[in-house]
Amino acid sequence: MSQASFKTVQLDTAQHDRSKFDCSSAPLNRYLREQVGQDMRRSFARCFVAVAADGCIAGYYTLASASVLLADLPDDVSKKLPLYPEVPTARLGRLAIDRAYQGQGLGGALLADALERAIRSEVASYAMVVDAKDETATEFYRHHSFIEFPGSPRRLFLPLAKVGKPA
Ligand SMILES: CC(C)(COP(=O)(O)OP(=O)(O)OC[C@H]1O[C@@H](n2cnc3c(N)ncnc32)[C@H](O)[C@@H]1OP(=O)(O)O)[C@@H](O)C(=O)NCCC(=O)NCCS
Repeated sequence: MSQASFKTVQLDTAQHDRSKFDCSSAPLNRYLREQVGQDMRRSFARCFVAVAADGCIAGYYTLASASVLLADLPDDVSKKLPLYPEVPTARLGRLAIDRAYQGQGLGGALLADALERAIRSEVASYAMVVDAKDETATEFYRHHSFIEFPGSPRRLFLPLAKVGKPA
């Protein structure tokens, strides 16, 4: 990561200024400004923000529990898992870095933070799942060892047991 230091904390909608956040994606900007508070109140997502030294939000991500069908995983993965129809996962709903901070390691650091939270959680998850919004985002997750679901190339997962292990 760059020299800049960030504090990663749960979003406090009353304290953090979300109005200036700009990651170049209008839907991701709008979600942080307008919708995330409602999703947090209803326990549909938790949002974590990286706060820069000047108090600005440099990046954010959301986490929620989810499940995927065992049958949707690649055969070489599913054949090693228990035969329950559904597999518990943690869903990285959104991940976005402000334009001023992109390309400096913050996206990778926030992804690592999300994976650590999922691993530490008292709620069991076999993997982290993400729906990448486009090919660039898909490449970012592939770069971090995420694996595509067969037939759904923008949907990817990473078994939590593999975090921190060589690919
Ligand atoms: C995609 C995004 C989250 C990446 O964050 P970032 O801070 O710019 O990326 P980082 O600087 O942390 O990159 C970390 C690593 O990922 C790699 N990387 C970054 N973007 C990449 C991409 N599109 N494809 C492949 N690798 C990528 C970097 O080279 C770096 O590799 P290294 O650790 O081996 O040196 C950020 O650019 C962003 O918010 N984009 C707009 C919103 C978006 O597309 N969100 C995706 C959610 S669906």
